[in-house]
Amino acid sequence: MFRTLAMLSLLLCLASVMAGKVGQQQQTGPQRHLVCYYDSTSFVREGLGKLVIDDLEPALQFCDYLIYGYAGIERDSHKAVSLNQQLDLDLGKGLYRTVTRLKRKYPNLRVLLSVGGDKDIETGEDAKDKPNKYMELLENPTGRTRFVNTVYALVKTYGFDGVDIAWQFPKNKPKKVHSGLGSIWKGFKKVFSGDSIVDERAEEHKEQFTALLRDVKNALRPDNLLLSTTVLPNVNASLFFDVPAVINYLDFVNLGAFDFFTPERNPELADYSAPIYELSERNPEFNIDAQVKFWLRHSCPASKINVGVPTYGRPWKLSEDSGDTGLPPVAKVVDEAPVGPNTQLHGIYSWPEVCALLPNDNNRYAKGAQAPLNKIADPARRFGNYAYRAADKKGDNGIWISYEDPDTAADKAGYVRSNNLGGVALYDLSYDDFRGLCTQDKYPILRAVKYRLSN
Ligand SMILES: *[C@@H]1O[C@H](CO)[C@@H](O)[C@H](O)[C@H]1NC(C)=O
Repeated sequence: MFRTLAMLSLLLCLASVMAGKVGQQQQTGPQRHLVCYYDSTSFVREGLGKLVIDDLEPALQFCDYLIYGYAGIERDSHKAVSLNQQLDLDLGKGLYRTVTRLKRKYPNLRVLLSVGGDKDIETGEDAKDKPNKYMELLENPTGRTRFVNTVYALVKTYGFDGVDIAWQFPKNKPKKVHSGLGSIWKGFKKVFSGDSIVDERAEEHKEQFTALLRDVKNALRPDNLLLSTTVLPNVNASLFFDVPAVINYLDFVNLGAFDFFTPERNPELADYSAPIYELSERNPEFNIDAQVKFWLRHSCPASKINVGVPTYGRPWKLSEDSGDTGLPPVAKVVDEAPVGPNTQLHGIYSWPEVCALLPNDNNRYAKGAQAPLNKIADPARRFGNYAYRAADKKGDNGIWISYEDPDTAADKAGYVRSNNLGGVALYDLSYDDFRGLCTQDKYPILRAVKYRLSN
C-alpha cells in the first residue's frame, strides 16, 4: 500500500517535471520570423488584383515584419525617393503613413521600407543605354552619404521601423537555348555554368556595398532602427556580398531564392522555378539549399537567414513540339502564356489565378482553353509542383506552370525549421489569395507558412 502510494507520488512528480520542461521549451524555443512583402503597386491595379488596406489587414496578424515595397533612388542626385509620390506620400492619405499607422492595431508588427526590389525601373527612350544607377551610387562616396541621409529621413518622417536594402545588382545572364531536347541534356552543364562576366567591377562594388550598409546601419543605430537586405533573384551573392563583413550590420537577410527559371529569362525552356533542392543535370546553384548554404558557409548565423517563398507561378506556353508528358525541363516552349485575368501581368500568375486553372468544380467538363490542367505534385517534396495542358493538334491551348501552393510553401517552412534558419520571407501578399477565391480561406499560403513555422 505504502509502496504504491510512493510510486504514485513519484510518477506525479515526474509528470509535473516533464510538463514544466515542455512549457519551458515552448517559451524559449527559437522564434521563427515571418517577413511579409507588400508591393504597394498592388493598390493601383484594376479589378480582382487590386489590394487595398482593408484587404491587407487580415494578413497582419501572421506577419512579424511587413516590408513596404518599393522606394527607389534618383539618378545623379543619389537620393532615396518614393517611386510614386501621390500613392506613397500624399498628405493625410499617403500609403507610407497609412501602413506604418497599422502598428497601433498590430503592436508586434515591424514595418520596414524597402529600396530597389527590381521595381525601380526607368522608362523612356534612352533608359536602356544608361548605366546602372545603383552601381553609380556605390561608386560615388558623396552619393552614398546622400543616399544614407535621405533614406534615414524617409524612415523617420513616416514612422518606419527600419530599412530593407534590395539593391539592384546586375543579374546572372540567362543562357540562350536553341536546340532540341537531346542536345539540351548534353549541354546543360556548359549552358548554365554562368561563365559570362556579370559585372567587371564586381570586386569594387562588393566593397562599396559593404561601406554603404555600414553607413546606413550607423545612421539607424541611434534610433534602434532595423536594417535588412534582400538578395534579389538571380543576383549572385558571391559577387556582391562580403558576408562576414556585412552580416554584423544586418538584422536579417532575405534570400530571393526563386525565379531561377522564368519565361522572361528563359523564353524557350521551362523548368522548376523555385526548387528546394538540386535537380540532376541542372545548375547546382539554382535551388534554395545552395543559396542558404552559401550564406552559412560564409559564417552567416542561421538565425539571420530568411528563405524567400513566392506566392505565384511562372507560366509558359507549350507548343505542339513540346511533347505531351509535361516532364521538365520542357523544350520548345514560348513566352506567350495568356495574361492572368486578375493581375493582368505578363509571365506571372498569382496563386488564385493558378488555382482557377487546376481541376475544380467549375472546369470539370470544360474543353479547350478552359479545360483543367494536369497537376503534377512532388511526393518527395523537394522540387515543387507543376501543372500543364499539352497543346492541341493546332498547336493551341498548351500551357506549363511552375508554381507554389500552400503545401509547397509549407514544405519550405519545414526546411527552415529543420535547418534552424531565421524564418520565411513571403513574396508577396498581393499574389496570395487575399480574397479567398480559391477555397474561401484568405491568404492560404501565408497561413500555411505560419502554421508550419510555429507547429
Ligand atoms: C557566381 O559567382 C561565382 C564566382 O564568384 C561562380 O563560381 C558561380 O558560378 C556564379 N554563379 C552563377 C549562378 O552564375
